[in-house]
Amino acid sequence: MAGGFIESGSMEKNYPGKLTWRAFMTCFVAAFGGLIFGYDLGISGGVTSMDSFLEKFFPKVYEKENNIKPSDDQYCTFNNQTLTLFTSSLYLAALVASWFASSITRLFGRRPTMIIGGFLFLIGALLNAFAQNVWMLIVGRMLLGFGIGCANQSVPIYVSEVAPYKYRGALNMMFQLAITIGIFVANLLNYIFAKMENGEGWRYSLGFAGVPAIMIIIGAWFLPDSPSSLIERGLDENAKIELIKIRGTTDVDEEFKDLVAASESSKKVKHPWLSLLKRQYRPQLTFAIAIPFFQQLTGMNVIVFYAPVLFKTIGFGATASLMSAMITGGCNALATLVSIFTVDKFGRRTLFLEGGIQMFFCQIMIMIAIWWKFGVNGNPGILPEWYAIVVVCGICVYVAGFAWSWGPLGWLVPSEIFPLEVRSAAQSINVSVNMIFTFIIAQIFTTMLCHMKFGLFAFFAFFVMVMSFFIWRLLPETKGVPIEEMHIVWQSHPFWKKFVKPIDAGNNREEC
Ligand code: BGC
Repeated sequence: MAGGFIESGSMEKNYPGKLTWRAFMTCFVAAFGGLIFGYDLGISGGVTSMDSFLEKFFPKVYEKENNIKPSDDQYCTFNNQTLTLFTSSLYLAALVASWFASSITRLFGRRPTMIIGGFLFLIGALLNAFAQNVWMLIVGRMLLGFGIGCANQSVPIYVSEVAPYKYRGALNMMFQLAITIGIFVANLLNYIFAKMENGEGWRYSLGFAGVPAIMIIIGAWFLPDSPSSLIERGLDENAKIELIKIRGTTDVDEEFKDLVAASESSKKVKHPWLSLLKRQYRPQLTFAIAIPFFQQLTGMNVIVFYAPVLFKTIGFGATASLMSAMITGGCNALATLVSIFTVDKFGRRTLFLEGGIQMFFCQIMIMIAIWWKFGVNGNPGILPEWYAIVVVCGICVYVAGFAWSWGPLGWLVPSEIFPLEVRSAAQSINVSVNMIFTFIIAQIFTTMLCHMKFGLFAFFAFFVMVMSFFIWRLLPETKGVPIEEMHIVWQSHPFWKKFVKPIDAGNNREEC
């Protein structure tokens, strides 16, 4: 049986309106929040592989790396907890910020949250660019993290609310596209700046993070508030005017009525956090936790954060490592486009499952390749050129699999399945879980590599298998379902219908 597959066509509700220029631009600018996130995901790996940076801040790692003997275990070269803290501290801060961002988003709207995020990010970037010691680096990274927590909380929700539901998938994925472009630009700049002869290239790499920050501040300043957010704050008149503008038609009564109804029932919910624990929100709660958890256990961030370190570990030279990271970063951005063009056609489930299978086989292949050359001792001898090509190609196909499945869907699906009454709280959980596991992977990757060696890839492959099974059995298709009608997909799902009763039965949106 095809798990919980539900044909969405039968439950489509046809709100009139088209994809207006205003809605498109709005989503486009908002998705720039993803640029900030992406730039930071991508920048630290290259910086931590630059010799001048290591020599200044992490002399022990630098020494170890430069005095490697053929008999040394290369799996452990970069195993240093302060070094990984430089990458991971950002995600811990993002975690804390996402808790506060939820209240700001609800009380003041999605835009101020994005603007605050942009400012924090800007200060963090400056602190990093002028860093004199490890602590300036880490505090800077934490400020960037606060910024990211704000942006990741507000942008996906904002885009889902503004986008016409028929294009919601594609428009929402612009957030992920922006993330991947951010990662790619970071890889590219690392490659360029690493060549600077004064050894200060890392300052430029880190300081450039200020550019997307300025872009989001300016962009969000001019964005309109989403109709849902205006209604949530009692500004119904303005909400209707905005809805007419973004839908490009005056025939918005039905959608407006549904938004107001959703908002009214959401206002009755006094404690969205507690409400989330109620039985009727069990499916949303499950996915708010499971999707980001699994997204991180695909192992993608091992590549995003540490591709240059990983490539160096398996014997590539400094430039080749940064170059290979750039290639995988490019694959990531290009493959995300595939998702944008297919998600509203093939649906979320198909992409999740295909991406999962692709990632699984690539991980097994990469594991075998590393095992074969490095064995258990981690000393490979001379590596032939074809070997490098095979590893880079394997990683590219793996990255593509992630980029059209778990990458974008990891943000899209949670943002569209939460009813308004618990939307901000549930999105906070989604961002928090994502950040906790991003932090954990960033912090322990080098230790895992040192101890699990090539088996690390089997570890992630195992989780990819588990998550694909989970999606197959439990995720209903949400393609083409208006966001305020989403409860229907749960009510008709073979497993979740036990939890979600029809609204008429008075059980779905009761007071808390
Ligand atoms: C994930 C990040 C990841 C990125 C890679 C995002 O969806 O949340 O953790 O680094 O995709 O493209």
